[in-house]
Order: sequence, then C-alpha cells, then structure tokens
Amino acid sequence: MIDTSGETPENPRRLAGSDFREVLSTVPTGVVAITAMESGHPVGLVVGTFTSVSLNPPLVGFLPAVSSTSFPRVLAAGAFCANVLTHDQRDVCRAFAVSGNDKFAGLSWQPSPVTGSPVLDGVAAWIDCSITAVHEAGDHLIVIGAVEQMARTANSPSLLFYRGAYTHPRGTSDVLPPA
Ligand SMILES: Cc1cc2nc3c(=O)[nH]c(=O)nc-3n(C[C@H](O)[C@H](O)[C@H](O)COP(=O)(O)O)c2cc1C
Repeated sequence: MIDTSGETPENPRRLAGSDFREVLSTVPTGVVAITAMESGHPVGLVVGTFTSVSLNPPLVGFLPAVSSTSFPRVLAAGAFCANVLTHDQRDVCRAFAVSGNDKFAGLSWQPSPVTGSPVLDGVAAWIDCSITAVHEAGDHLIVIGAVEQMARTANSPSLLFYRGAYTHPRGTSDVLPPA
C-alpha cells in the first residue's frame, strides 16, 4: 500500500513519482515511433502511450510530455504517422527516446500516403493521422488523431515495454477474448 499522507494542490494524495512509475509499469504497452514532417524535416519521438480511441470515426491517440521538444514540431505539422515498432527495432526506440538526437540518422523511410509523415522501414504497422484535438492532462497532453490511412506491414512480433524493460510477446494465446 502506498503512503499518501500529506497534501499539495498539484498532488493532493502525495503519491511518490517512484511509486507511480512502479505501479503503472505493471501495465505492458506497445512502443510506437510518432513521426511527422515539419518544414521539410523529419521529426519524431517514441511513446508507450499510443492507443486506439474510437472505431467510428476511426481515432487514435498518444500522450506526449509537455517537456517534449519534438512534440511541438509534430503539432506544427498538424499530422503524424504512428509507427508500430517490432522487437527487432529496439535501436530505433532508443534513438527516438533521446532528446536532441538526429533520430533519423541511418534509417530508411518513405512518406505516408496522405500526410507525408515518415513511415519507417520494417515497422509492424503504420497509422497515418491528422491531428484533430490536443487536451491538457497534468504534465502531459492527450493528442487525438483522425486515421487517414493505415496498414499492417510486417508479421514480426511487436516490441513491448513492461516493468521498465523491453519484452517480447511470446506465448501469444490462440484463445480469443469474448466478442
Ligand atoms: C518505451 C518508451 C516509452 C515512452 N513513452 C513516452 C510517452 O508516452 N510520452 C512521452 O512524452 N515520452 C515517452 N517516452 C520518452 C520520449 O521518447 C523521449 O524521451 C522524449 O520525447 C524526448 O525527446 P524529445 O525532446 O525529442 O521529444 C518514452 C520512452 C521510451 C523508451
């Protein structure tokens, strides 16, 4: 049980950041490189917060930190491509997580069909989106994208992040969840 004694306006239950990370790290996430073209330059960041939002209309979302230096450039583009990384693309993940890095050095990519955002070679899938909304949420933003085009491009296993480490979706069950 987490000690929540004491209060502050920003954190009324006084949850420690380390406890927050430790507890939330039990939720496995996918790893997605968000890319965009800003003034002719490819930009991007890696996120574990990419998610489907709505089927009709087709919407997806992700949550960049307000401290991200790349997200304002994605926002300026007004569009992004969500690149679903495979387990073999851990190096791409590391490169996209470093602020100020030349994140596209040595990478091959093609422009996405509708927004022209970079589709990285070898990704499991890509989802080409226009930004339709940005909501404030504490020290992060909730970004909503309308899906313009999408494709599943490789059969390789997706990269997962779980309890602070990369992992592999081994032991995938054939049993489907209830419809
Ligand atoms: C597995 C993983 C998941 C991440 N998820 C997020 C995320 O959901 N939101 C976020 O803002 N940063 C996330 N980061 C950190 C960013 O990738 C990156 O450190 C940050 O955007 C700094 O680069 P920038 O200044 O170019 O934006 C994640 C990093 C890793 C390795």
